[in-house]
Amino acid sequence: MDLHFTEEQLMMRSMVQDFARTEIEPLIPSMEAGEFPRSIINKMAKLGLMGITIPEKYAGVGMDFISYIIAIHELSKVSATIGVILSVHTSVGTNPIVYFGTEDQKQKYVTKLARGELLGAFCLTEPGAGSDAANIKTQAVLKDDHYIINGSKAFITNGGEADVYIVFAVTDPQTGNKGISAFIVEKTTPGFIIGKDEKKMGLHGSKTVQLTFENMRVPIENRLGKEGDGFKIALSNLNIGRIGIAAQALGIAEAALNSAIYYAKERKQFGKTIAEQQGIAFKLADMSTAVEAARLLVYRAAHLCALEESCAKEVSMAKLFASKTAVQVATDAIQIHGGYGFTEDYPVERYFRDAKITEIYEGTSEIQQIVISKYLLR
Ligand code: CAA
Repeated sequence: MDLHFTEEQLMMRSMVQDFARTEIEPLIPSMEAGEFPRSIINKMAKLGLMGITIPEKYAGVGMDFISYIIAIHELSKVSATIGVILSVHTSVGTNPIVYFGTEDQKQKYVTKLARGELLGAFCLTEPGAGSDAANIKTQAVLKDDHYIINGSKAFITNGGEADVYIVFAVTDPQTGNKGISAFIVEKTTPGFIIGKDEKKMGLHGSKTVQLTFENMRVPIENRLGKEGDGFKIALSNLNIGRIGIAAQALGIAEAALNSAIYYAKERKQFGKTIAEQQGIAFKLADMSTAVEAARLLVYRAAHLCALEESCAKEVSMAKLFASKTAVQVATDAIQIHGGYGFTEDYPVERYFRDAKITEIYEGTSEIQQIVISKYLLR
């Protein structure tokens, strides 16, 4: 596998790095205070980032999949909040319509999502169905030319802020995961109720809400794919979502490593910098090795996804390892900062708080182990 980026990818990387430094970094305090970064989303839209992989025909910039992963990785080095907003909007908010939508659905929704005029979200998880995604209870009943949808969704990233939601609901309760269908739902639909805004350990600028659907009438033309296609649509797009989260975790891990190296070279104890003390130097060596291994797994999986080859196992391996690395490296970075690492004066405590969720959302580490072992043992 070639890890050398093309000229175009390198240009895009440097543009995203500049953008993150000049536009995102100054807004970190407001995001940490819980403010949703709408102005950043508008600026990302102007740069084409909200439609980075979407074909030009649907108002995207039509860049390759590796460029998208580079963007999530670089944005997440500065702000994991921005990383997840873009990842969810693209991978599970917009892509399902690109891959499974009708031409009318693409013209109506993808063009606006790609331009960043609309923000996307994904509604699979429910209060009683997280890892066991096939066990959702939200029901969609066809009545004339509308589906009547009733149920609740939990932990919806971009929820309340997003305009368009890919909603999964049961249309045939007798057939298990083959009875789930997908729908494109607009926030303004009567019966779409925004509930609790979760107070989270990290990702403070990103919204995570509960949603309730009460006799929500969704036109039949907003069903995505055929009845019963929903679980397939959810899982195939989750692969693309998971590699985005793996790239987010890689960005957090790299940021934590860089902070630890910088601090270790500045901080003096016992008459020399702590970097010159073997206990710290060896820790940095291990952290850096883990980050490098995560990078290889993430870009290898992204490369397979870009070739549109089967990539579920490699994506799960990348997410499993990169998320574990992010948590471990952020923990070690705090340790290297000592007491200062436990304060808000240094960014490492934020990296630690943001890292943990990468082991949980878009499939917990245990779900990634299920996916990997199923492929190994079949
Ligand atoms: N990619 C493509 N297809 C997949 C797949 C994958 N990663 N995983 C499973 N499938 C396919 C299987 O091959 C199977 O296909 P066939 O019926 O054609 O054989 C079908 O899906 C059903 O698979 P299983 O029989 O294994 O189904 P299951 O009910 O036992 O569950 C699971 C499988 C892997 C546990 C699945 O339920 C799962 O991934 N759960 C985790 C859910 C999840 O990731 N939720 C994240 C929520 S979204 C989120 O967090 C977004 C956010 O806001 C940040």
